[in-house]
Amino acid sequence: TDVRTLREEKLQKICHLLHDNVDYYDWVGFYFRNGDKEELVIGPYVGEYTEHTVIPFGKGICGQVAVSNKNFVVPDVSAQDNYIACSMTVKSEIVVPLFVDGKNIGQIDIDSEVLDAFNEADERFLEYVNQQVAKLFTEK
Ligand code: SME
Repeated sequence: TDVRTLREEKLQKICHLLHDNVDYYDWVGFYFRNGDKEELVIGPYVGEYTEHTVIPFGKGICGQVAVSNKNFVVPDVSAQDNYIACSMTVKSEIVVPLFVDGKNIGQIDIDSEVLDAFNEADERFLEYVNQQVAKLFTEK
């Protein structure tokens, strides 16, 4: 098994852990920059099937985070105009960028069916999760 497959399996496990242990984390997944292209491709995720497997930079919450390099907490997705709906039941969302050696290589994206589900504690927690995930991209 190669290093990429092992990493994918670990990311899938992280998605499951987060999804199964936090009741308002209803969709948990990773998006990654597609090489040098200005687009994100979906990685491992847990939750409802989504057809949004490729997202151009700038588009939706995910695409905006790819450009801003900043956390994006959306208390009410219906109030966002640059938003890509994956499911009609989603009410709020958080996207936290994933930095490896200071470079934004992707992000963790979490959707909730609860309105205004995410706070600063989720931001700090998911920043920590991403710091651990980043090690999977640097360790030999
Ligand atoms: N809502 C995201 C798209 C990804 S789905 O939530 C899985 C966005 O607006 O970028």
